[in-house]
Amino acid sequence: MSKGRGTGDGGGCPPPPETRPARVAVLLSGRGSNFVALADGCARGEVPAEIVLVLSDRPDAPGLARARERGIPTRVIPRKGLGQQEQERQMVAAVRAAGTEWVCLAGYMRILGAEFVAAFPERILNIHPALLPAFPGREAQRQAFEYGVKVSGCTVHLVDAGCDTGPIVAQRAVPVLDDDTTETLAARILEQEHRAYAEALRLLLTRGWHVEGRRVVFG
Ligand code: GAR
Repeated sequence: MSKGRGTGDGGGCPPPPETRPARVAVLLSGRGSNFVALADGCARGEVPAEIVLVLSDRPDAPGLARARERGIPTRVIPRKGLGQQEQERQMVAAVRAAGTEWVCLAGYMRILGAEFVAAFPERILNIHPALLPAFPGREAQRQAFEYGVKVSGCTVHLVDAGCDTGPIVAQRAVPVLDDDTTETLAARILEQEHRAYAEALRLLLTRGWHVEGRRVVFG
């Protein structure tokens, strides 16, 4: 069993009040709307955190421009030419150099290797556009739509070395409507992703929590 928040010192429940925002690095590969939702939540004071680095494997990721507009430092570490191990070593170094306590994956479309995950135990979060454990991996909204489920949603979870398999922090459900397309369903889920991600990070930073087996237990 391990306890939050943050220091791995045996933790406490409830945690002591924090006086400074947690330092967060965001990893993204695409448009970055979840990053923007997190950044806005921090700026509004709803999430006691500061995004200090946006890191991408893709130089053309639109999320990078959205970070620069907000004055947040960015780094691009492409996998091409480096290979996964070296790329992830460089990413660990960049995240550590930014003095980061938490890593939030926001549409980072690669599965992190065991070394990266082990570098930040229970401090990496991911948002996935389905109600895990259903529909892990890519194109989760399409998988759910084509399967014919009547309810789908999103999941925020701690990251382990598997593909979308870590302990669940928060989930939000949405209906699948008869006249939906994959695109309209994805848009309905995305709206909830933006709420769920900020809310999950806020909970982890402000409440006592620990992991019991697969369960994230608050309070
Ligand atoms: C989001 O829907 C996110 O849940 C998904 O990629 C999208 C990124 O959008 N992530 C995954 O599918 C990871 N398995 P965004 O760049 O606008 O945040």
